[in-house]
Amino acid sequence: MSSRILEGKVGVVFGVANKRSIAWGIAKAWAAAGARLIFNFQGERLKENVEELVAEFGGDVPLYPCDVTKDEEISAFFGKVREHTSRIDLMLHSVAFAPKEALEGEFVNTTRQAYAMAHDVSAYSLVGLAREAAPLMTEGGSIVAMTYYGSEKVIPHYNVMGVAKASLEASARYLAYDLGGKKIRVNCISAGPMQTLAARGISGFGEMMKHYQDHAPLHRSCTMEELGAMGVFLASDGAASITGQVLYVDGGYQIMGM
Ligand SMILES: NC(=O)c1ccc[n+]([C@@H]2O[C@H](COP(=O)([O-])OP(=O)(O)OC[C@H]3O[C@@H](n4cnc5c(N)ncnc54)[C@H](O)[C@@H]3O)[C@@H](O)[C@H]2O)c1
Repeated sequence: MSSRILEGKVGVVFGVANKRSIAWGIAKAWAAAGARLIFNFQGERLKENVEELVAEFGGDVPLYPCDVTKDEEISAFFGKVREHTSRIDLMLHSVAFAPKEALEGEFVNTTRQAYAMAHDVSAYSLVGLAREAAPLMTEGGSIVAMTYYGSEKVIPHYNVMGVAKASLEASARYLAYDLGGKKIRVNCISAGPMQTLAARGISGFGEMMKHYQDHAPLHRSCTMEELGAMGVFLASDGAASITGQVLYVDGGYQIMGM
């Protein structure tokens, strides 16, 4: 693969909170491959973090607020994007949330409110963002969303987030169908466990990591660089015929039955 495989492409990145964020890992890989990026941040609280990180790229990297539960913030964000570019090629969705109490204890106790919130932030947002991004993807595009295996098998404590990830993956398939005619591809990367801010909210996360070390064919989860490499591949023309898929970067854990 040429190292500047994304030269000339423009991307929007949702979900950088800090340097451990998966979004940051993939953004760095996209930038290293030549893509020009525009970032969101979730509220003023995270602005400084994202500002400091993108400063690494040098120059003026645009970043704008966007809480994905608010339609008006989504359209304002893309309004700002249009001030920088008339075309985008890539979009990364690396956003998820569920109230902490929903990620402890039993799934059966999930409240209506926690269920709705998890789905709004973690699944519907892909639809809302894709709808705004698609008209800007005038030469086709690649939309990449982050998911987890808890969507298809029960992972204790992952609870409502697993159900929301199932919805995210199904949404990616329906979006892939709708947007395929415009040469816009929509895929999910299913990452093995990574020590990030969001992961800290899941009770028993340490055990999950250990389980991968003991049971995955490669005896580990994955690295940020490996997620970045998959992100670059899916964004590149080499993946031009891949859409609606869930690609596993998880040390092979997903193939195991026992
Ligand atoms: N860490 C893991 O083990 C792991 C494994 C597989 C998939 N994932 C997925 O990767 C993605 C990124 O998570 P991460 O682990 O990098 O953690 P993270 O906490 O760094 O990223 C989560 C991001 O979601 C954003 N977010 C939450 N609510 C939002 C809202 N209302 N509006 C806008 N943004 C909002 C946060 O600001 C943050 O940037 C998530 O979809 C997560 O489910 C994580």
